[in-house]
Amino acid sequence: MNHFEYKDGELFCEEVSVTQIAKEVGTPFYLYSKATLSRHFHVFDSGFEGIDHITCFAVKSCSNIAVLSLFGDLGGGADIVSGGELFRALKAGIDPRRIIYSGVGKTEKELRYGIQSGILLFNVESEQELHRLNKVAGDMGVKAPVAFRVNPDVDAKTHAYISTGLAKNKFGIPINEALDLYLQAAEMEGVEVKGVSCHIGSQLTLISPFVETLRKLKAFVERLTDNGISIDYLDLGGGVGITYDDEEPPHPKEYAKAIKEELAGLPVTLILEPGRVIVGNAGIMVTEVQYTKTNRGGEQEKHFVVVDAGMNDLTRPSLYGAFHAIQPVKKKNVATQVVDIVGPICETGDFLAKDRKLPKVEQGDLLAVMSAGAYGFTMASTYNSRPRGAEVMVSGDQFAVIRARETVESLIQGESIPGFLES
Ligand code: LLP
Repeated sequence: MNHFEYKDGELFCEEVSVTQIAKEVGTPFYLYSKATLSRHFHVFDSGFEGIDHITCFAVKSCSNIAVLSLFGDLGGGADIVSGGELFRALKAGIDPRRIIYSGVGKTEKELRYGIQSGILLFNVESEQELHRLNKVAGDMGVKAPVAFRVNPDVDAKTHAYISTGLAKNKFGIPINEALDLYLQAAEMEGVEVKGVSCHIGSQLTLISPFVETLRKLKAFVERLTDNGISIDYLDLGGGVGITYDDEEPPHPKEYAKAIKEELAGLPVTLILEPGRVIVGNAGIMVTEVQYTKTNRGGEQEKHFVVVDAGMNDLTRPSLYGAFHAIQPVKKKNVATQVVDIVGPICETGDFLAKDRKLPKVEQGDLLAVMSAGAYGFTMASTYNSRPRGAEVMVSGDQFAVIRARETVESLIQGESIPGFLES
């Protein structure tokens, strides 16, 4: 359930008219509903009531500090994958003891920053990373808390680009080889073994891959115990999918129930790293129609709606062929037309939707690109020198700009013309 609804044919976010926000903020912009964010966080987190757990929100999915601070207030932690995300999470007031650090390419500087900040766990993804972390922490005279991200070789049955749990993917350490690293780590001065972690992919619409993974993890934890290694944390990653079109992902409660049942009795704190399931349907992107045009001459007429948001603002359709529902902000009683909704970027791959049935629109109309809260703004770029749009949050009848629209000046910030180019 979300709080984007029509009232008298006008799209509202909670109690604020989307048209009103567009008038004041301009387009394109991302719009998040605080009530929806809170509700989704609560629904997910409360599914795990009764067992020790931490819901570490995956910062990469929506990293605005206002959003992070909201989840922090609701008791959430953060799953981060870079020094930049750590900075954001700390700025947002998230307790470092609820921050876990994943990712295959942590630099020395990033490891040091994580240690200095006192984060809960490093999810180590390779032997070399283990040695680097041991060295960095050793030099600092401390022990870094470690989990190994194991790769369980489970098929998440999702898009190839966001499937991470197969042996052929770059992530984690093959579960069959991980024991050796645990044994090595147990002897090291600079690390302390704390947990096991994994993340098998994103936008999963089935529960079974999660359960299969958890079974493999449990068997692995048993092997660890047999080898005298005990752990405090079991991190199952993120990945629960959402409905963009007609997908039928498990309800977060159903997912939680299955995990709790499978986990029964294991004396560990469960860590979860949800992103999309919390923010995906709590945000939309709003864009304005610039032009409509029809290209004839091919095999058939092609109708285009050119909007002021492109693949730089929302890259998912171009990158993954992802579907986002698109609807007029103001409903009109007009005929529908099959159109491509495209952006201003100079690439044929710049589209938000292809062959989409849409009520006929005209210049100046606003369109809402739905389900854009996850991997929307965070994947935006300034390609074609387009300043990134604003981010706005609504709460009840109020709204606030939580990230100002970039300016052309900000586009060239840090650039300079060196002396040797001056003639
Ligand atoms: N934990 C780790 C280690 C991850 O790599 C990810 C996502 C998550 C948690 C959160 O997964 P979620 O709950 O959001 O599925 N850009 C793609 C999605 C990439 C996901 C990357 N990792 C998209 O737009 O679909």
